[in-house]
This record gives sequence, C-alpha cells and structure tokens, in this order.
Amino acid sequence: MSTVTIPLDRGPGFGVYIHWPFCAAKCPYCDFNSHVRHQPVDQERFARAFETELATMRARTGPREVTSVFLGGGTPSLMKPETVGAVLEAVAKNWTVPAGIEVTLEANPSSVEAERFRGYRAAGVNRVSLGVQALNDKDLRFLGRLHNVEEALSAIGLAREIFPRLSFDLIYARPGQTPEAWGAELKQAIDHAADHLSLYQLTIEEGTPFHALYAARKFTLPDNDHAADLYAMTQEVTAAHGLPAYEISNHAQPGAESRHNLTYWRYGEYVGVGPGAHGRFVENGRRTVTIAERMPETWANLVEARGHGVTGGEILTRAEEADEFLLMGLRLAEGIDLQRYEALSGRGLSSSRLSVLQEEGLVAPVGNARLRATTAGMIVLDAVVADLAR
Ligand SMILES: C[S@@+](CC[C@H](N)C(=O)[O-])C[C@H]1O[C@@H](n2cnc3c(N)ncnc32)[C@H](O)[C@@H]1O
Ligand code: SF4
Repeated sequence: MSTVTIPLDRGPGFGVYIHWPFCAAKCPYCDFNSHVRHQPVDQERFARAFETELATMRARTGPREVTSVFLGGGTPSLMKPETVGAVLEAVAKNWTVPAGIEVTLEANPSSVEAERFRGYRAAGVNRVSLGVQALNDKDLRFLGRLHNVEEALSAIGLAREIFPRLSFDLIYARPGQTPEAWGAELKQAIDHAADHLSLYQLTIEEGTPFHALYAARKFTLPDNDHAADLYAMTQEVTAAHGLPAYEISNHAQPGAESRHNLTYWRYGEYVGVGPGAHGRFVENGRRTVTIAERMPETWANLVEARGHGVTGGEILTRAEEADEFLLMGLRLAEGIDLQRYEALSGRGLSSSRLSVLQEEGLVAPVGNARLRATTAGMIVLDAVVADLAR
C-alpha cells in the first residue's frame, strides 16, 4: 500500500460537509439519509436553511480556515447550480476559504444531472464524485440504478472535460461476481478514471429492500473467503495501475487523495450541515459531536424556528476520542501516529496486544512513530480495533 502524499504536517484539517437529502429514486441497497419527493423540492427554502445553519455553526466554531468542502447526499447533482452557489457563498461568508481548496460534489451519472456540470464548475466545484457503481448493464439494473453504462461513460467524459478532479464509485462483491470479471471491470474503470476511485464491497444494510430479499434468499453474495479474494484482487489491480489504496476503499494517484475524507480519517474537525449531517469539532476545548434531524422538512422547520436542526450529539471523553482516532486512522495506509494516540488516551497501546496482532500479520509498524493495519488486518479491521482499544 502507498502512503498518502498530502503531507501529514499540513494537519488533519477543518472540513465543511453539506448534506443534500433527496434522490430521484431510492436504491435498494442504500441506507443513507436520502428521500424521494414526488413534488418539486423548494430549493430556495433549503438554500436559506443551509445559510442559517452555517451561520449558527460559525458562531460555535469561531473563525477558522476551511481546508475542504463536500456536498454529499442523497444526490447533490439534483441541486440547481444556483443552490450550490448560494451554499458555497455562505461557507465563504462564515469562515476563511483559501483559493483552490478542494470542493467536491457527489453526482449521479444520469444525463439530466450531467447537464448541470458546467453550472457547478462556475459555482466553485472543482471535484466531482460520480456514483457509477458498475460498468455492466445487468448489474446496474440489479442495483436499481437509473443509468446505464453508456450514460455513465458519457457523464465520466463530460466530468473530465469540466472538472480538474474526478472520482467515481463502484460497488463490487456483487452476486456471482468472479475475481476475473471484477478484475476486468476494474481495469476498464481505471482506463476511464481520472485520479481517484472509491471501491466498496456491497453491504447488506438492515431496513433496506436488499436486506429483505437477501434474507428471503432471492440472491446470494460472495462468502468471506471469496470476498477477501475480491479485496486482494482490488488492491493488486489498482496498485499495478497507479491508483494504490490510501484507505480501505479509496484509491488515488499519489497527491490526488480526497482532502475532505482524509480529514475524517486523520481525525480532523468538520462541521456537518443539513438533514442528518454529523459534525465533529473542538468547542470550548472539547471535541463535540453534532447530529442533525434526518427528515428534510422537519430539519428545515427546526432551522427556521431556532437557527439549526441539531437534535443530538455529545461531548466526547478523552477515551472516546482515542477510540475514534484509532478506528478512523487504521483505515489509512499511512496508519496512525502513536504519540497522538498516547496524548489523546493518556496511555500507549498495550505492547502485548500489539505484538500478538503483529505476529498474526494484522498490523505493522511504520518506522518508529506510526502503526498501520496490513491488507489482512484491513479485512478484519473492526476486530483489530476492538482488540487494541480494550
Ligand atoms: C451517498 S452515495 C453516493 C452519491 C450518489 N447518490 C450515488 O449514489 O451515486 C455514496 C456511495 O456509497 C456507496 N454505497 C451506498 N450504499 C452501499 C452499500 N449498501 N454497499 C456498498 N456501497 C454502498 C455507493 O457506491 C455510493 O456511490
Ligand atoms: S445510493 Fe445514492 S442515489 Fe441511491 S438512494 Fe443512496 S444516495 Fe440516493
């Protein structure tokens, strides 16, 4: 695995996340906070609510320098370019936004949405993350997507023309997918990829239609060994083609890592705005979590009534911070800074547990100061973290 080339000394960062909670249709595997509306969404109302909530967050964080902005969803490519422009202006009104920082928008590859790409670029978006999901029509239909391969390729082509940076998502470990078929699809993806790919194994989330269908044995998924082979194939093919993994599911040309997502994994700070958004930032010297109301209209009502839609959250204890730092940082190829862990938790990692995990080939030191999970460790990362955090 590569190490990340965005230097560590630039610090973990301060990101702004904005959640657009609407989709044209709900995909049967998805448990993100996304909602389908059969009436047009009142975008001006939501833009005003975003502006209000951003100002409330600014009052809590104080003046800061933003390192990245991410418009995620849902399907932010259903936003009008004017809505995106209003939100980005509001971010710049509240905090310092240096020229050229990463501004990402998640987009679906349907042709209607691709038509708006130029408007997003003019509004300040400089990176697009496209939800391609598969490069064969049969699997796109299985995944319930509204686009086909032809539309995906044309959206990729258009995005490459318009945006300096492009990433796309694929979901693998689909029913019946052989390592050979996946390897071939991945190579095709890499031929079209600009600088970054997110490659997720299909996960069956509770409460989704796929959960019910899977329980009723309407389809089967690769077993653990087969999924591990697919994961290993993913690492090999991407590394061989210049897009090594810098995180469990994320691959980039050196230097093209997502600054925004690195902020999450390096345990930096971020403000989360919009329905269901989470934030984590330092307030009065303590790391504070914010969680917003998930239902879009209820969230907007709350913002209009009292300036924000935050309905949950907590102040983390040092031990909770240390656990989260471990959980996020071990996802990265660069691993974690052991001194920072010690400073957060007030103690070092248990050397006896470390040596067992090292003997099992699940973790490895990076020089004297850092620890990373190996490829084998990444596959069972939750267990590795639970063991270390005990
Ligand atoms: C918020 S969605 C992306 C934005 C956009 N709405 C789309 O679907 O194209 C983030 C990504 O998570 C991945 N994803 C969502 N649910 C998943 C699941 N159950 N298993 C694997 N990947 C999933 C998909 O690749 C998706 O593109
Ligand atoms: S995968 Fe994307 S398009 Fe599909 S429901 Fe989830 S957020 Fe919406």
